[in-house]
Amino acid sequence: MAEAFTIKMPKLSDTMTEGTLVTWEKKVGERIERGTVIATVETDKAIMDVEVFREGYLSGPTTPVGAVVPVGNAIAYLVADVKEVKGGEAVTAPAERRKVERTGEAEAHKFEPSGMPKPKTHIPAMPHGATPAPRPRESQATPYARQLAGAHGIDINSLLGTGPNKIILARDVTAPQAPPGMAKRIYQVPGIGRPMDAMEKAVAHSMEYSLSMPLFRVTVDIRPERLAAAAKKEGHSLTVALAKAAALTIQKFPRVNAVYQHEDRIVERQQIDVGLAVETEGMGLVVPVLRDVMSKSLKQLNDEWKDLVARARIKRLKPQEYSNPTFTISNMGMLGVTLFDAIPSPGTSAIFAIATSGPQGMPVTMTADHRIVNGADAAKFLNTFKQLVETPESWISGGKPQMISAGKEAIVSGQWDYDVVVIGGGPGGEDCARDLADHGKKVLMVNDAPFPGGECLWRGCIPSKAWRAGADRMRDRTHDAHLGVLNTTKPKLDWKLLEKMRRSVLETRGDMALKTDKGVKIEVRQGFAYFDSPNSVVIDTSGNQKDPHARPVPGKGKKTERVTFGACVLATGAPPWVPPIPGADSKGVLTSDTVWNLKAPPKKLGIIGAGAIGLEMAQIFADFDTQVVILEAKDRPLAEVEPEIAKNLAELLDKKQKNLKLLVSAKIDKISGKPGAMMLAYSDAAGKKANFKCDYVLVATGKRPVLEPLALDKAGVKSDEGIVSVDSQCRTNVPHVFAVGDVNGGYMLAHTAGHQGRVAAATILGEKAAYNQDKDCGVIFTRPQAAFVGISVEQAKAKGVDAVEVKMPMNIDAKAMITDETDGLIKLVAEKNSHRIIGVHFLADHADTLIGEAVMMVAGDMTLEQVAGAIHPHPTQTEMFGEMARRLLSRLRRTARVAK
Ligand code: NAI
Repeated sequence: MAEAFTIKMPKLSDTMTEGTLVTWEKKVGERIERGTVIATVETDKAIMDVEVFREGYLSGPTTPVGAVVPVGNAIAYLVADVKEVKGGEAVTAPAERRKVERTGEAEAHKFEPSGMPKPKTHIPAMPHGATPAPRPRESQATPYARQLAGAHGIDINSLLGTGPNKIILARDVTAPQAPPGMAKRIYQVPGIGRPMDAMEKAVAHSMEYSLSMPLFRVTVDIRPERLAAAAKKEGHSLTVALAKAAALTIQKFPRVNAVYQHEDRIVERQQIDVGLAVETEGMGLVVPVLRDVMSKSLKQLNDEWKDLVARARIKRLKPQEYSNPTFTISNMGMLGVTLFDAIPSPGTSAIFAIATSGPQGMPVTMTADHRIVNGADAAKFLNTFKQLVETPESWISGGKPQMISAGKEAIVSGQWDYDVVVIGGGPGGEDCARDLADHGKKVLMVNDAPFPGGECLWRGCIPSKAWRAGADRMRDRTHDAHLGVLNTTKPKLDWKLLEKMRRSVLETRGDMALKTDKGVKIEVRQGFAYFDSPNSVVIDTSGNQKDPHARPVPGKGKKTERVTFGACVLATGAPPWVPPIPGADSKGVLTSDTVWNLKAPPKKLGIIGAGAIGLEMAQIFADFDTQVVILEAKDRPLAEVEPEIAKNLAELLDKKQKNLKLLVSAKIDKISGKPGAMMLAYSDAAGKKANFKCDYVLVATGKRPVLEPLALDKAGVKSDEGIVSVDSQCRTNVPHVFAVGDVNGGYMLAHTAGHQGRVAAATILGEKAAYNQDKDCGVIFTRPQAAFVGISVEQAKAKGVDAVEVKMPMNIDAKAMITDETDGLIKLVAEKNSHRIIGVHFLADHADTLIGEAVMMVAGDMTLEQVAGAIHPHPTQTEMFGEMARRLLSRLRRTARVAK
């Protein structure tokens, strides 16, 4: 008779010493093929399959369900011939009398098919996660003795060996000759008790082991609201976001990722693996581990976490998924606890215990092993974690390397004419199309004008700056005498020459842009595109005009062509919006579309709206000697600009700007007349009625997208109050349709559109990028210029950020004094705790170039210390940045001292 093959309890993890038989998946007598799962067993935290890698028939005696069997012991047999199959259950420990003790090193790997080995010496079971003691310095020990000594924290060097050649045996570790105090003690209570299950044992042994750690605790209160909101916005769980914040903190304090090893060794670890305690029904606490947190995006981590938790709850985690974290977080915030501390598990040096948020914030207690982390380090560690949680914008989304993850392309698969159709050739559409073409995508850019450039080039930024440049020259002449330069103060404007230059710059740039677009292999087509299905647009060329300076108009539906695409980007902009004021449709009413048709600067100009367009135009024309009245409905001009900057600009215009009157809190009653003889009837802030007679009225009351001709409904794209709403990746409600720039209703600025175009392109390409308005910027080309990057103190407060600011007037700057440009101020806004610079605001001549450094401060999350320590060249106005940073740091230091 052929010998039966023994199927043994497999060792399914490093720490597994025994398993509980949960189910038999095959019956005795069944044919078994290679790789068949014959049973499932419960290890310390998961239920796992037992596979057999040979053929035969399953034979008894089998281990009964519920029995606990040491690793290596028989659970069943495999026989070659079906006639040899035996039935019956092994006389092995059933659930109630199941304890199977190991019997020493010789016996540990021995078993008998018919039953369990007989106990000889009682030796405690191996705690899970135990690391063997190192080899004794002056004697020898068996591997099992070393394992036991390691597991029970016994110094193997202090033991006397009783084996051959004085070798230390397992019994020496637990036997009476072990040093006093080393033997385990128990406190006897009435009753027999029941054996612990695998899970209970794992926790108990780990905790016993942790007792050897000299632990201490530090608590800090943290405001989690912004992280919670930011995580929610990105669709991530707060727990995962906290794990990422912890990993980012560990990256700054790598010592926390190290662990103490007996004897006197420190094991440092590069990879940050964060274990997160999860309460599971019926199974108690499990700690699934997010591996290599720093190399993964939040999205990846979130997906992994969802999967881990789902499987943890049905006991389907593999041991490698819940063992060996390098740091752990226990979050009991949801359980209403005011404060608690947790015990670091073996193999880690610290753990966070997160309690429920109260009025003071969310208490986070760090319990740490003092052999690795000292008190001050723990405090710094917690404070860094606090900063990251309280200011998540710097890391939760945006262009940081760890946030960029390769994802799925947003191009619907299929046979399309183009991978991507971009509608609109302004800064948003062009930048998007160029990035896509650069990545090898087949891109069609449909633009309703003969040249690209959009509103910015043809009716916005560039032409207005051409006029501003002429006005600057005239205005600056008035300062010449200040420098001792005489006879230059009466300049004369030649409007025709200025206009010639303006038009030529526009045409040259339009031509350059088209050549570049074609050169990078974008297919550019003139026409008006509208959706006719989620994957196609109709291009109507019947409205095409030749004049690049004219505002494009939609076609008349006569000449159309249909093209299909896998993804589409709407970059259709927003034309000026004219409110329903009586007479607003008069011929003498201009907008930022039609002001370019003026044959000469008007003698008198009425402007409605003191936004960017209204103020820029008002000052340009005032510098050209036009008498200007601006009427603003709100109580301040420039609603998008920091309040003090806008207020100071209004005061300056009032006091120093010739030919200009700004009235805030005004109400327009009526516009009437004809070009050259207009009448603007209004009520001032006090309700007093007045009229302003002027040649033209410029309405600059904002811009609004025109969506109706785009037939968004054909693609299922939703609009919301006249704009196409998008997420931070510029995605509409339809996953393969994007909207960038003015059409999505954010800041209507060319660089915003360009950036969003690149964000959309990256998203389409499967990369992760996001637009963050808190890092955006703008320059209003008034004199002095009003400019901003990031957010104001007011905006920071609204977001729950504790911010401080420092400001400096321009009149203390040497360069400003020399050039007589002393009006205005610069202010720097920083987060109080982290000293991170979150905003810089200007009312200053040359702000358009000075802002470059400020953009890098905010974009790069620079701190006051970094700006204070940078060497700024002298004599330049950039020195003011360093000076302000040092001043604010000094103030914060002094106030902190007083607070103590
Ligand atoms: P805006 O939205 O900046 O300003 C419009 C102003 O008109 C607001 O202050 C509003 O309160 C006021 N207003 C609206 N209805 C009114 C009424 N019936 N009576 C009196 N006042 C009324 O829009 P604007 O200036 O037309 O500019 C359009 C867009 O272009 C803006 O997003 C702006 O930021 C951008 N732009 C940017 C420039 C830059 O960055 N240098 C230059 C020009 C425009």
